[in-house]
Amino acid sequence: MSAQFDNTAGPLTTESGAPVSNNNQSEAAGAGGPLLIQDQVLLEKLAHFNRERIPERVVHARGSGAYGTFTVTADVTKYTKAKFLSQVGKETETFLRFSTVADSLGGADARRDPRGWALKFYTEEGNYDLVGNNTPVFFIRDAIKFPDFIHTQKRDPYTGSQEADNVWDFWGLSPESTHQVTWLFGDRGIPASYRHMNGYGSHTFQWVNEAGEQFWVKYHFKTDQGIKNLTQDEANKLAGEDPDSHQRDLREAIERGDYPTWTVQVQIMPAAEAATYRFNPFDLTKVWPHADYPPIEIGKLELNRNPENIFAEVEQSIFSPAHFVPGIGPSPDKMLQGRLFAYGDAHRYRVGINADHLPVNRPHATEARNGNRDGQGYDGRHGGQKNYEPNSFGGPNETGQALWAPLQLNGQTGEWETPKHAQDDDFVQAGDLYRLMSEDEQSRLIANLAGFIAKVSRDDIAERAIANFAKADEQFGKRLATAVSELRR
Ligand code: HEM
Repeated sequence: MSAQFDNTAGPLTTESGAPVSNNNQSEAAGAGGPLLIQDQVLLEKLAHFNRERIPERVVHARGSGAYGTFTVTADVTKYTKAKFLSQVGKETETFLRFSTVADSLGGADARRDPRGWALKFYTEEGNYDLVGNNTPVFFIRDAIKFPDFIHTQKRDPYTGSQEADNVWDFWGLSPESTHQVTWLFGDRGIPASYRHMNGYGSHTFQWVNEAGEQFWVKYHFKTDQGIKNLTQDEANKLAGEDPDSHQRDLREAIERGDYPTWTVQVQIMPAAEAATYRFNPFDLTKVWPHADYPPIEIGKLELNRNPENIFAEVEQSIFSPAHFVPGIGPSPDKMLQGRLFAYGDAHRYRVGINADHLPVNRPHATEARNGNRDGQGYDGRHGGQKNYEPNSFGGPNETGQALWAPLQLNGQTGEWETPKHAQDDDFVQAGDLYRLMSEDEQSRLIANLAGFIAKVSRDDIAERAIANFAKADEQFGKRLATAVSELRR
């Protein structure tokens, strides 16, 4: 996106284009007198300034964005009919917004927190958004718990601070979080930069090929820069010295032509295997172990262009898990299903009903054609064309082709728990992750967890949290209990 006009020459003007005579002294009633309401330059300037901010994202408020290119490196046409994936060598423009989750806009980048990974593919069949994290799993498995979870990560209504009590109370009472929390307090919990971490689609998605065959798929973006992390002490120091450390790192790397890249992989499960797989494949607290479904390399992602205007292109960018293209669709994952609603709703509140028309958000390789019109910020792009369908004036027509394949369903409606498969419980994969770690990694994990759990004000909150880790691995629980009690003595 380049500047629309030259703001470097000519007279300073008001918004309506009238020349401004004095931008340093307001118009006053006499040399020492009060200001006049007829000073429209002053009034317009103050009023505009008051409206510079839009609501920050309720989560993932701090972020950094960059444009890039996705290139297909393997033939996946037997799995999906998506056109942007249809040919080896095919390139698609992308925009990626990284973020932290819990901090407000004014926070710091070097925090122990998941990193958001919101990737927009500007495909010829519309924009495809993959709104994931740098972690393959999540804390909870049902969308209805998300606002409660986030409230515990944000500031307490009374103290105005993030409270260890709230965080550990919720996690202790939500044992399905044990896997993600083990991940978060391990070495990868504080990436050194956005360039030195992986990205994941996290959820399971549906791919469907030309013949209508369905597959379940998980996306992995493996950093080619190598994984680099910060220890808690390094992060504490950096957050104080350079709160924008991730933003600076990304911008500077792209400015010097050191374009970060990721190798894109997918795990693919034939649809018929889902019902009997040892883990529920639609449970976001679980991974599919690579031994079960080996990742297949399908592409390369490169970031190679910085945005020119952070507010226009990063703050106003919008991503939605509901932005699919033909050949890709949702799975019944209850988190994903909730997110299909939440993001469009957030965009309409945060950026407005015409957010999709902004240059960073609109399709770049096709046009949006429909009867939606007007609303705040509408730019009149449709001129006098008809705004209804069907019409006999050459308007756009529905295709009759569903984007994704239908699911076979049965059973009764109800507030069901996520069905458990043969090896599902809340702790098995957390235990596996702990046992995969070296002795040093385990020790750092325990120190990180203990340092935070020790801050809670009530023993029962600490004990319940520790009990979850003990259920994942007995030794993990014992070591953690000892470390916490030493800190609380
Ligand atoms: C039901 C659960 C969830 C709900 C209701 C939810 C809701 C939201 C909302 C309202 C926003 C702000 C959107 C905006 O203002 O533009 C957001 C941002 C985001 N969420 Fe979620 N979220 C959920 C779970 C997740 C999960 C599981 C992931 C990752 C696996 C995730 C990744 C992100 C990312 C990356 C962003 C930032 C997008 C951007 O850069 O603009 N969220 N979420």
